[in-house]
Amino acid sequence: MLDWDFLESELENFRAAGLYREPDDGLVRQSWLREAEARGLVPIDASSNDYLGYAADPVSRETYRGATGSGASRLIHGTRPIHRALEGAISTWVDQPATLLFASGYAANLGAIGSMAQSGDLIISDALNHASIIDGCRLSKAEVTVFRHVDIGAVESILRMEGSKRRCWVVTESYFSMDGDSPDLCALRSICDQHRAALVVDEAHALGVFGAGGSGLCSQNGLKPDILIGTFGKALGAQGAFVASTTLFRNWLWNRARSFVYSTALSPMLAAVVHENLTRAQQDKSGRVRLETAGGELRRLLMSAGVRVLESSYGPIVPVLLGTPERAVAVTNDLVAQGILVQAIRPPTVAADSCRIRVTLNSTFSDEHIRRLADSIIEACAE
Ligand SMILES: Cc1ncc(COP(=O)(O)O)c(C=O)c1O
Repeated sequence: MLDWDFLESELENFRAAGLYREPDDGLVRQSWLREAEARGLVPIDASSNDYLGYAADPVSRETYRGATGSGASRLIHGTRPIHRALEGAISTWVDQPATLLFASGYAANLGAIGSMAQSGDLIISDALNHASIIDGCRLSKAEVTVFRHVDIGAVESILRMEGSKRRCWVVTESYFSMDGDSPDLCALRSICDQHRAALVVDEAHALGVFGAGGSGLCSQNGLKPDILIGTFGKALGAQGAFVASTTLFRNWLWNRARSFVYSTALSPMLAAVVHENLTRAQQDKSGRVRLETAGGELRRLLMSAGVRVLESSYGPIVPVLLGTPERAVAVTNDLVAQGILVQAIRPPTVAADSCRIRVTLNSTFSDEHIRRLADSIIEACAE
């Protein structure tokens, strides 16, 4: 029989370093609700990526009547008209010729990045790219080089050396989920064009939040990436994801993206929910304006009280830097006891000395919510 002790001792190391994680079966959520109720306060969930506040809404009766499952992968008779309708709507939204749905953003990055680059190619990837991008890079047969977060000069030097020798792919997020900041997308586009490299942008946290009709930061900055990836699990309040690009690349994904080919097609019911939420998000200008003003106000209140907000951050993601994992957990627990749910972010998601709480805003937050959030964070950080 296999000796499993090696796993136990590894987990012990995690525990000793304060890095052990487990789903809490909703216990933190329950205590957060209980504490808020006991104090007669409205509970504030500042931990989700549900930026426009759609995730908890019930499904409309008409959508609810739709088929639950596709019964097979898209290539094995799992394609339904709603899949094609949603893909068409997304292509129009992000202004790309063709779109392909995936079961999750993780699967989309694995499928797109893992299949796009060939042996001998070079992928140039931002140091803070999401784990799904990193895993997509690992899955591809290309060499991967990582550049310092949002350092456009570093990308330019790499491309100057490599661009004429081999095919290069620059991969970045448009709005980074842990730092709430962005690269200079226009500069990246122009450097990629100069060196005949492809620009691949994951807009997971920007879609619905930035740009006309919530069409993201590429659109807001007036540029087109070669490949654009988005997920439905953030501002669209549901689940699933897409890759949008040329028809040629979509056809390539049909044939080569294993996380598409060998996976059950997105539930038609879910696709219908996403379609509804997409239409809603496109019209939700007031939600986007609210996110911007609420983010600005929270930052102003925190920074004027000396709280360390990551300075390069903007928009609905407000990272409060705390240092050690223990301190991040202590501040998180303190906030939960005040009826405020935030997420402690620790390694391996961020470096060991830049643990933080990641406060994410929701367009439904009132001025009173923002004031309470600020007061509670200021108090918790002072202890
Ligand atoms: C930038 C980025 N890409 C992809 C994903 C994965 O998306 P999903 O949750 O739909 O798998 C995430 C999720 O956290 C993300 O932040």
